[in-house]
Amino acid sequence: MEELVALCKRRGFLFQSSEIYGGLNGFWDYGPLGVLLKRNVKDTWWNDMIVGHNEMKVMPGAPSTYEMLGIDCTIIMHPQVWKCSGHYDLFHDYMVDCKESKKRYRYDHVKGRWVTGTKHGEGGAPAQEMNVFITTMETEEVQHALDETALRFFGLRKKDLEHLVWEGPVQAISSLSDLSQVVGPDAKHPGTLTEPREFNLMFKTTIGALGGADDYSFLRPETAQGIFVNFKNVLDSTRVKLPFGIGQIGKSFRNEITPRNFTFRSREFEQMEIEFFCHPEESQKWYQYWRDRRFRWYTDLGLASERLRLREHEQAELAHYSCGTADIEYAFPFLPEGDFGELEGVAHRGDFDLRSHMEGKLVREGNELVLEKGADGQPKHRGSGKDLTYYDDQRKERFVPHVIEPSSGADRATLAFLCEAYSVDQPPTANKGEEATRTYMKFHPRLAPIKAAVFPLVKKDGMPEIASDIYSELKKYMTVQYDEKGAVGRRYRRQDEIGTPFCITVDGQTVQDGTVTLRDRDTLEQWRVKRSDLLAELRQRLFM
Ligand code: GAP
Repeated sequence: MEELVALCKRRGFLFQSSEIYGGLNGFWDYGPLGVLLKRNVKDTWWNDMIVGHNEMKVMPGAPSTYEMLGIDCTIIMHPQVWKCSGHYDLFHDYMVDCKESKKRYRYDHVKGRWVTGTKHGEGGAPAQEMNVFITTMETEEVQHALDETALRFFGLRKKDLEHLVWEGPVQAISSLSDLSQVVGPDAKHPGTLTEPREFNLMFKTTIGALGGADDYSFLRPETAQGIFVNFKNVLDSTRVKLPFGIGQIGKSFRNEITPRNFTFRSREFEQMEIEFFCHPEESQKWYQYWRDRRFRWYTDLGLASERLRLREHEQAELAHYSCGTADIEYAFPFLPEGDFGELEGVAHRGDFDLRSHMEGKLVREGNELVLEKGADGQPKHRGSGKDLTYYDDQRKERFVPHVIEPSSGADRATLAFLCEAYSVDQPPTANKGEEATRTYMKFHPRLAPIKAAVFPLVKKDGMPEIASDIYSELKKYMTVQYDEKGAVGRRYRRQDEIGTPFCITVDGQTVQDGTVTLRDRDTLEQWRVKRSDLLAELRQRLFM
């Protein structure tokens, strides 16, 4: 992971936001190559899910044909949207503060182990045997991190580690009932962590220059709600019929307590979400369909199936609105061995969202969703009162559609593709200037930021002129780089490291017979292609 992070910085994929001012935790900027990669991820999703979808054909595994439309909604919406969606009351994490280090931690992320040792007194105080719960926020080499905290706490040196007696497994502090013996991740004394408190994850903002206490809203924590509140507009402005989906790509914001793991948990990120509306009786079939279709999308783009899994949520894990959720998860290299991180959630949301925006905020009572009432017996948060039902003229029936929501993160998907692409090998045939070990990014051709690079073998004999002509021709259709600096082997390596699938070399033979060499990044195979066939061959190999 460290090597990948270094490559991302060195080659311009990702930079820490506001780096020259020391950075801002939880915010990331995409550099010149990163922006191309992420755009390709989003374009591929938009094309495969929305505009490229063929509504005349039954997709494999789909119960019937369906339509797909797109939308682009604002980041700031009416505050009532968030009250009815449940985010205002329920979108929070628990956090604990450390009174000593002044740091804040997500309650469910702090973990540790019981340990007994002799604490060497500070300022001449007598040594004393103590049993404490030592903690860390590290996700990798957890025991190593615990050892370090314990040595600091007991005032011991590394060689004294054997005098510490560890008990029981690593466990979350949320599993303890008393925090008085807990030594916080950055603390020197036990009992400095506060009791957990709720912390709403939405960023609040004021609207208008004269904004008073009531003129507030939030930066959206998900793009989904913009789709629900526009359901009627889309129905009325198009001839779309159920079943159909509306997709949106856009920024979302969550004031995460502990952003971490590169872009995996950021405070500003992009989502690619679909709300798929269907008849309630068909919703289970559509849920299955979307789960499998979305899983396949990742494997088709090169995520290895052993590092990708589909996990159905347990009943207790389900969100308040959900009748079923499956996560598509990837074994990110920064996670402990065997752990997976969420790439996408596919949720069966029933009619919760449309009904909430009609009637007001709903809560589950047994199997029923009922209007939540305040202490005065009135609805806690009023809905829009607008009719968000659908009339099915074939069934002659009016109902609130059920919703299946495949919700993925563009940054997490980009990060997974980066992790998966990172490869190191020692190819047998080294060209002049090539080092023995090669680092290359094995991006799927559709995702690769630069599709091809053009090199003149040497800077003479008419080769640069031909190469720059080829560059200009290709540039109209794809992202291409031109490079004439240094030994050709080094130029190949530079392209390998940024994941360029094909390199085109103009050599002495090109001047004579008009053919160029085409080199494949992964197989290192080289073959000759007529210049007149080059564009067609590249487009075919790049799935363009
Ligand atoms: N509308 C449903 C929804 O937002 P979610 O599971 O909270 O569901 C969906 O988010 C996806 O958005 C996640 O699977 C993940 O890919 C991405 N995501 C969520 N929080 C994120 C964060 N803090 N940083 C980066 N991506 C995030």
